[in-house]
Amino acid sequence: MGKMVIYPGSFDPITNGHLSILRRALTMFDSITIAVASNPIKKPLFTLDERIATIRESIKDDDRVFIDSFSGLLVDYVVNQKTNIILRGMRALSDFEYEFQMSLMNRKLNKNIQTIFMMTDYKWLYTSSTIIKEAASLGGDIKGLVPDIVCQRLKEKFGY
Ligand code: COA
Repeated sequence: MGKMVIYPGSFDPITNGHLSILRRALTMFDSITIAVASNPIKKPLFTLDERIATIRESIKDDDRVFIDSFSGLLVDYVVNQKTNIILRGMRALSDFEYEFQMSLMNRKLNKNIQTIFMMTDYKWLYTSSTIIKEAASLGGDIKGLVPDIVCQRLKEKFGY
């Protein structure tokens, strides 16, 4: 079995920034599991099933990419998946503290788990799911920032 990495997140919704990380990571790993956190604390706009469905449609068919969901501790999920690597994308410096905190906590919880970070492509440095949702909710054009299916789902959510 080749090297597998877990790419966790809320993906509420998946953005082109996430897809760029995914594509680039596929040049390093044999397979990637996108692990969608149910994450009720973040009060997601899209249900878990909706987030998974849009990811599936955005990825199309790639037998190296798996889509799954998890609740509870990420490190436990990673162990259950029989790997030890977490992949996270890092945007501007503002991400650093949060990511650092999260990876240190994960490390405290399980020393065998490694987190690797990839720099987000400069095109997506200042995007986030939240800012995209805000623009979309006000009727802004978010084409190019998210896959077409997400554009469509956002329009449906906000009723235009
Ligand atoms: N380009 C553009 N934007 C990106 C990006 C990229 N490459 N990568 C991430 N982002 C943005 C997302 O759009 C998102 O924006 P938002 O905060 O406005 O929603 C933000 O960065 C981060 O979102 P995402 O990548 O979806 O991950 P997350 O931070 O919501 O995920 C978990 C966090 C799920 C990994 C974390 O909460 C977790 O592990 N939960 C399980 C519980 C646990 O184990 N806790 C203990 C350890 S801390």
